Amino acid sequence: MTTSTSVWLATADPPRYERINADVRSGVLVVGGGIIGLTTALELQLTGADVVLLEADRIGARTSGNTTGKVTSQHGAIYAALADRHGLETAGQYAAANQTGVERVAELVDRFAIDCEFARTPAFVYATDETDLRHEADVAAKLGLPAQYADPAELGLPLTATGVVRFDDQGQLHPTRYLAGLAQAFTQAGGRIFENTRVTALSADDDGITAETEPGAVVQAQHAIVATLLPIGILGGYFARTRPQQSHGIAVRLPVPAPAGMAISANGPTRSTRPWPGGGPNGLIIVGSDHEVGDQTDTDDAYRKLTDWASSLWDHRIEPEYRWSAHDYSTPDHLPYVGKAPGSPILVATGMHKWGLSNGTVASGILRDLVLDRANPFSTLYDAGRIGDAHAVAGLVKDNLKVGKEFAAGHLRRLLGGGLDHLEVGEGGLYDVNGHTVGAYCDHDGQLHTVVPVCTHLGCPLRWNQGDTTWDCNCHGSRFTAEGAVLDGPATTPLAKPELGE
Ligand SMILES: Cc1cc2nc3c(=O)[nH]c(=O)nc-3n(C[C@H](O)[C@H](O)[C@H](O)COP(=O)(O)OP(=O)(O)OC[C@H]3O[C@@H](n4cnc5c(N)ncnc54)[C@H](O)[C@@H]3O)c2cc1C
Ligand code: FES
Repeated sequence: MTTSTSVWLATADPPRYERINADVRSGVLVVGGGIIGLTTALELQLTGADVVLLEADRIGARTSGNTTGKVTSQHGAIYAALADRHGLETAGQYAAANQTGVERVAELVDRFAIDCEFARTPAFVYATDETDLRHEADVAAKLGLPAQYADPAELGLPLTATGVVRFDDQGQLHPTRYLAGLAQAFTQAGGRIFENTRVTALSADDDGITAETEPGAVVQAQHAIVATLLPIGILGGYFARTRPQQSHGIAVRLPVPAPAGMAISANGPTRSTRPWPGGGPNGLIIVGSDHEVGDQTDTDDAYRKLTDWASSLWDHRIEPEYRWSAHDYSTPDHLPYVGKAPGSPILVATGMHKWGLSNGTVASGILRDLVLDRANPFSTLYDAGRIGDAHAVAGLVKDNLKVGKEFAAGHLRRLLGGGLDHLEVGEGGLYDVNGHTVGAYCDHDGQLHTVVPVCTHLGCPLRWNQGDTTWDCNCHGSRFTAEGAVLDGPATTPLAKPELGE
């Protein structure tokens, strides 16, 4: 039997924090309790700042609690391409930044004795086609990374690799337990966390920043950091400068001991693996089946492909014990945006390209130093105000044309499916009801849930995600529960309920 939640969320019991119930003043407001929000809050609180963190859900419950848990500067085979595109110096800064991120995670684990299965392990990137990984290894080593071209036998995966690069001394951890440890260290240092407290609006004036929250309380602060995966609402316009990329994960027990190292494929389809200590010596996490949020309706198929891959590699029918999905944002020039949002004093961090455990830890150092008005070696590299090179601008234009099409296409999809009486138990989708498009889902108790399937961020049509039973927006990545509550922004308000009439 497969549990539809991440193996990390299912096997951790993070501390609980109250929902906000009164107005609050603080020096720094951090919005979002994922890796970036929690690390930034802790980093600042440790310097003596007075920090309040507001989290819409539980801490670590969204993307950070759904990662593969690799803490590494090896982000696939990216360094030759980064050096080609940005030059060796910039690629070297990115490499140094992420090695710094890995080491900072190790220091925090050690300093606060965080019980999160942190282990040093090699990270492999391998090809099964003609991808030139010798060149990748050479460039990565030249940039100062602990990289070597390696023997395919070291991989431990039963496949034929045409090239392998090994990064030494990388890390893996249990992300939810790590975040719980950060939260505890933060509150022990005097920081305050409020969970189930969604920020619905932010405004800035000469007196500082004011945040309105769903429970109604108001938070005022001198500085604000928005670490909500993608900045909420229209802050900084990042929704138009990023793309939401979704991946799927499974936790399985193999018929034989799992490979000891972490691995990721250089060529598609992406398969990212690492040991799953909780699953014993045969436990393995597999992540892949990537697509843009809202691009694929049959998301059950995404999980099936991961399971089939494992079953065929190990020649054994493997059933996942856990399955989950999550998304992160990519930027057109592959570098995250961290710093002051254009036209606002509010600080943001987004676009981690699915490598936010290292990148996000670097981001936290940059954000801390910006609040304290201190120099940081990586702030220019991750500058949140940049537009990017010519490639990046071309990419942005293309992505926004796609979003434009999405607005138009919504009306074409409205006649999919029949009337509501055609819904099976466990099934959802778009239905035409008296000429109106209604999003409907019939839960396992036979109860019908209906929504207006229009995203509350900027009005794009939503698509039904059958694998995760969510409503997903392909425009900028907002996701909603079957009942219409916000799961992920940039949206901040729930879906409207349709008037079904008689
Ligand atoms: C499947 C998958 C696997 C990955 N594996 C790895 C990996 O192995 N290694 C790695 O380095 N990276 C990995 N990543 C990337 C990494 O998980 C992300 O980059 C990182 O978690 C982003 O952290 P975050 O703090 O920005 O976002 P989140 O963890 O999503 O945190 C944002 C928080 O803000 C809250 N929030 C949102 N809106 C509001 C609001 N209005 N008010 C208050 N709170 C709000 C959310 O509830 C959430 O808790 C992976 C990503 C995916 C999708
Ligand atoms: S997330 Fe922007 S319109 Fe849906």
